Amino acid sequence: MALLKIARMGHPVLARAAEPVPDPAAPEIAALVGDMIETMEDAGGAGLAAPQVHVPLRLVIFHAPAHRNEGRAVPLTILINPIIEPLDGQRHVGYEGCLSLPGLTGAVPRFAHIRYGGFQPSGEWLEREAHGFHARVVQHECDHLDGVLYPMRMDSLASFGFADEVRKALEEQTR
Ligand code: NI
Repeated sequence: MALLKIARMGHPVLARAAEPVPDPAAPEIAALVGDMIETMEDAGGAGLAAPQVHVPLRLVIFHAPAHRNEGRAVPLTILINPIIEPLDGQRHVGYEGCLSLPGLTGAVPRFAHIRYGGFQPSGEWLEREAHGFHARVVQHECDHLDGVLYPMRMDSLASFGFADEVRKALEEQTR
């Protein structure tokens, strides 16, 4: 296992569509997943997409800690060649961060309820329904596979800023 270098916004690998994984059960994919898990945990992220570690393949990993997902933890999940389907037109706006935009945050509208699916390294197909933070993180990570970073999804850049400043401002608003 190894820590991988994370690409930052501006690197072309983050701006293009990634290729489907030809064989989800290939040993080199399992090795990549292992390195991505180690890299995500080291960086303290909730998710990581293969293009973020300079591998232009359709593969993401994520987890949702209970305190960020209405008390329900979503375990570490791997999605290879994932698909997402919104279950209705409802969108929620929430703050997001990204390991490729360190220190920054912004408010992003996302579908509130989705169904998603993806291959596992075993070759099996996983399918789930998700809402809240869980749905948000899946949409954020899968956007990376199409060269889309969260600022490109924001309705307005007015809420875009350095996370520590934004946090301070929000705390003052609610005081
Ligand atoms: Ni990201």
